[in-house]
Amino acid sequence: MQEGKSAALRIRPGQALRGTVAVPGDKSITHRALILTALAEGRSSLKGYCRGEDCLNTMRALQALGVRIDATDNELQVHGKGLWGLAEAGTVIDCGNSGTGIRLLTGLLAGQDFFTVLTGDGSIRRRPMGRIVKPLREMGAVIAGRKGGELAPLAVNGTRLRAITYASPVASAQVKSSLLLAALYAKGTTHLSEPRLSRDHTERLFEFFGLPVTRDGLMLTMEGRPSVGWTAAPELIVPGDLSAAAFFIVGATIVSGSDVTIRGVGVNPTRTGLLDVLQRMGADIQLGERREQAGEPVADIRIKSAPLRGVTIGPDLIPQTIDEFPILCVAAAVAEGRTVVSGAEELRVKESDRIAVMAAELRAMGARVEERADGITIEGLGQGGENGRLNATSGRSHGDHRVAMSLAIGGLTAECDSLIEDSACIETSFPDFLGSLMQLMTSGE
Ligand code: S3P
Repeated sequence: MQEGKSAALRIRPGQALRGTVAVPGDKSITHRALILTALAEGRSSLKGYCRGEDCLNTMRALQALGVRIDATDNELQVHGKGLWGLAEAGTVIDCGNSGTGIRLLTGLLAGQDFFTVLTGDGSIRRRPMGRIVKPLREMGAVIAGRKGGELAPLAVNGTRLRAITYASPVASAQVKSSLLLAALYAKGTTHLSEPRLSRDHTERLFEFFGLPVTRDGLMLTMEGRPSVGWTAAPELIVPGDLSAAAFFIVGATIVSGSDVTIRGVGVNPTRTGLLDVLQRMGADIQLGERREQAGEPVADIRIKSAPLRGVTIGPDLIPQTIDEFPILCVAAAVAEGRTVVSGAEELRVKESDRIAVMAAELRAMGARVEERADGITIEGLGQGGENGRLNATSGRSHGDHRVAMSLAIGGLTAECDSLIEDSACIETSFPDFLGSLMQLMTSGE
């Protein structure tokens, strides 16, 4: 197996996955921890942070806003500036490929007393920003952008905000978190609700730092402009990213003879839909050594290969499975029987249109797939109580890190080598994906 950065990733199948690995720190938590420690009083240490490009872009944004951050491979030292200590950036802030970065920073910057322009790569400039711009404007924010503020770049003219009561039409943690960060700077009490519970890392981290947020069912209440700031975290250990672990969880399940343990993975229930779905499909997944880090539940996850059967995934399960859709499609494609996913239209506005892209790429690998506006139906290739095999592919990532890694795992079930074109996007979230995969493939030799 070899890799050229933006060239193709070559996947050579034929080996079971065995042994123990760790995965990068959680990407969602790293963004939030960077922001909240930048606003804390004093110096924080973030250990095990995600070194993917998305989080590095948020780190660089905060540095551009005057926050000193010293980085080593495993630790960030963030010299917090206090709630009102950010300063105007001398340049446009480039969030790269990160929806979380641009949406959270826009909420944070709406209530400052300076001007900021935020942008990102081609994918980010196509993704919907109206979902944060509209409620932020209700809070008094002054934001301009392409198509009336629907699309980035966004120009944020910081101003004094007021609290609102807002019912978000989408279950989006990025919308919720953007508004919570704006609410910190707003006068009064903000009330926010969402149609289904999305990942709750922001709320947990606010609580960890003692910030005034409370939850009642799906309704959050947040007091704006706290009179005292919050103290830095001497040691905040970021849990491993379940969304990165997902590739090895599915890989170990569908490549026979595998037995993998992934250490220190975040198992926040708003994120673990993949584990529930795979277990319903027949997967052999055990959680051990449960503990807590930075207000988040963490466990070691052990996975042994097992035959899978198709499953139905309805709208209720989508928020906690949202980023695992591409790899779940791979699991469904080799399972026995039909898998139906519905209520998942949000997947069309991710780093790529993940419904269209996975349907096209899996079809090219011999899977039987029907695409629908809000989901997908996959007739799995498994038979007689055994998982099926995909055909070797020359697949395309479409610039989407999770698609690239999913196709790589799918390729492990094929009879000969696969190539995944345009694999550099893996850097976004999991720079050492290939190294970890190779480690698991050679442990059993
Ligand atoms: C994220 C929220 C989700 C998820 C994304 C990370 C976050 O997006 O898909 O990868 O860190 O808040 P939405 O809020 O758009 O659902």
